[in-house]
Amino acid sequence: MIPVITIDGPTASGKGTVAARVAQKLGFHYLDSGALYRLCAYKALKEEIDLADEAHLAKTAQALSPVFEGGKIFLDEEDVTDKIRAEAVGVAASKVAALPRVREALLDVQKRSRRLPGLVADGRDMGSVIFPDAPLKVFLTASAQARAQRRFNQLKEKGIVANIDTLTRDLEERDRRDMQRAVSPLAPAKDAKILDSSNLTIEETVGQVLQWYEALAD
Ligand code: CDP
Repeated sequence: MIPVITIDGPTASGKGTVAARVAQKLGFHYLDSGALYRLCAYKALKEEIDLADEAHLAKTAQALSPVFEGGKIFLDEEDVTDKIRAEAVGVAASKVAALPRVREALLDVQKRSRRLPGLVADGRDMGSVIFPDAPLKVFLTASAQARAQRRFNQLKEKGIVANIDTLTRDLEERDRRDMQRAVSPLAPAKDAKILDSSNLTIEETVGQVLQWYEALAD
């Protein structure tokens, strides 16, 4: 069986960075499932598709053919690596992600990323829905305050000015929408290990995940 480590959790919990580093350390592939929802939202915003038009958005999701290359993401030959990280795209992503037909349209591409020698997948439902048989499932959390601060720093690095109160409000609203939706709500899988990273560095968090993974072999 091809090993999978799933890392789910709320926005700005550090999942992406932690998952990418764990994948790198183990030489595994990496699936950033949130990027798929962001790509779909980006295209919807660009083409002015109504964010409640489920049929149209499902078709858009189905037809997506992004290229992941050297840490960059291209959509229809446009470099969208930074553009899809904009907060407006994140908010729209959480709206399109609430639509069951959009989620269904993205099932195959996610499952196909399980390839040898292994996969680290990050998102909201990696452990609960997409890879329920994963041998290691992590649910990464952090306080809203710690997450807003991290998002603030992340945006600042990209030269984007943000307001910490607005960020906190936005992420709480996004958590609420992700947790309350009917399909694949944000919740730890029954057999997930909970990791609170509020007071941990990235290295410490990565170290804990690797330690859990190595312990599986014992
Ligand atoms: O970076 P951040 O954690 O804010 O977001 P992301 O992981 O890029 O995901 C963006 C949005 O896509 C989330 O707010 C979720 O609503 C949605 N998403 C999802 O529903 N299921 C996933 N497996 C991944 C993301």
